[in-house]
Amino acid sequence: MKTRATVHRDFTIAGIDDRLYSAFIEHMGRAIYSGIYEPGHPTANAQGFRKDVLDLVRGLSIPAIRYPGGNFVSAYKWEDGIGPQKDRPVRLDLAWRSRESNQVGINEFAGWAKDAGIEMMLALNLGTRGIEDARNFVEYCNHPSGTYWSDLRRSHGVEQPYGVNMWCLGNEMDGPWQIGHKDAVEYGRLANETAKAVKAFGAGIETIVCGSSNDQMPTYPEWERQVLEECYENVEYISLHKYFGNNSHNSLNFFAKIEETGRYIQSIAGVIDYVKAKKRAKNDVYICFDEWNVWYHNREQDSRNWREWDWPEAPPLLEEDYNLEDALFVGGLLNEFIRRSDRVKIACIAQLVNVIAPIRAERGGKAWATSIYYPYQFASLYGRGTALNVAVDGPRYDAEAAQDVNYLDIAAVLAPDGASLTVFAVNRSPDEAMELDLALGGFGNARLIEHQVIGGDGTGPRVANTAQEPDRIRPRKGTGMGVADGGLRGELPAFSYHLLRLA
Ligand code: AHR
Repeated sequence: MKTRATVHRDFTIAGIDDRLYSAFIEHMGRAIYSGIYEPGHPTANAQGFRKDVLDLVRGLSIPAIRYPGGNFVSAYKWEDGIGPQKDRPVRLDLAWRSRESNQVGINEFAGWAKDAGIEMMLALNLGTRGIEDARNFVEYCNHPSGTYWSDLRRSHGVEQPYGVNMWCLGNEMDGPWQIGHKDAVEYGRLANETAKAVKAFGAGIETIVCGSSNDQMPTYPEWERQVLEECYENVEYISLHKYFGNNSHNSLNFFAKIEETGRYIQSIAGVIDYVKAKKRAKNDVYICFDEWNVWYHNREQDSRNWREWDWPEAPPLLEEDYNLEDALFVGGLLNEFIRRSDRVKIACIAQLVNVIAPIRAERGGKAWATSIYYPYQFASLYGRGTALNVAVDGPRYDAEAAQDVNYLDIAAVLAPDGASLTVFAVNRSPDEAMELDLALGGFGNARLIEHQVIGGDGTGPRVANTAQEPDRIRPRKGTGMGVADGGLRGELPAFSYHLLRLA
């Protein structure tokens, strides 16, 4: 199979917002408790956070993290998580029918995020609560001193305000499962008024309004239109969520869901443009894809479990063993975000530890990287700068999720200093190698300085990194690609992901 492609230094899509490589972590399952936080773990620091997990998190160079939910946030009282830990109430988490000890609250999490070098993006409860509680939370976090909430924070040992700039106006408010679910106009009005209150705290504050929970919702994309008509001028982003499954074990159809996601992004961009025009608005609204990942391996069993269990504390939930196919999918989806970086400015892998996550951690035991850790890491480390257009001319296939899909999934990024080019490429074919001829325009005598490959060595698509075998899927040094006569040429083996860096 042969594919010709062309990239040119001047043929740009957009500047990539670093926050395209953000993450999400929720109080659910073992994400927080026995995930990032486990006092008594051999690697725990004085605050109870695990160093083994923190090291893996640091390796991802994550710019921002959405917290504390998710469905959890829609019935959460943030005040339960402040003050002396011994005095905090234990509550029932209505979203996941679990027990919440509140031993981690905003101040503990902020300390962890600072250690990890990650900016916080906080979600407000617009399910059971509203404007009053939202403004109190922002005041607690962001006001310097001299008021009830800011002085309360100081009395909790946090002298300096956090200066949180990104505030999510609720979570998945279109979903009937959401505690405090609302219709679009009702939610849009509440989001607008809450955004106004939140923005009173400072010029740098950005708000993210809830779009649809996914593109299969019956109210999609009317939801976006109605919500934006209520709040367009007071929000910077609209959120998109989408999770992906492959129950039929059809790799090509699975990968075609990346094209389907491109259409989802394009449709929401159209709705944004429509509302902007209708309102004669001056401001732009961008997309914040703040929940995305593969989620299907244990989904049905998990769903039964949490509906039936008796309010356990930090139970295993959504702990997926990701495989090679999932790694190729995640690499491809990140490529789609790069290709749509003109409209998608923030994206958060959901989630970060244990719960549908690139990082897993045993209670009291070891931590390891799942297969999806690596493409996410490569994108975060080398996918910053300017996205370049890549014109592709090669074999295509039809699938149920999308038609006319390229076997080659490719994205190219020019580094911020213009000195290097990174190409992320996936040969989606399960059984055929691909001869790639990528013509390079404007890159002079650039040479291939790094080539890492995942898969492509006959490893089966469903071989996974597990607790017993945490290293089955790892990147290795690539071969078979090189620069000659102004082109990057060579062979991409069947079912393989590639990081190719040129300078
Ligand atoms: O990430 C798991 C859940 O998926 C989140 O709580 C919710 O927002 C989404 O439905």
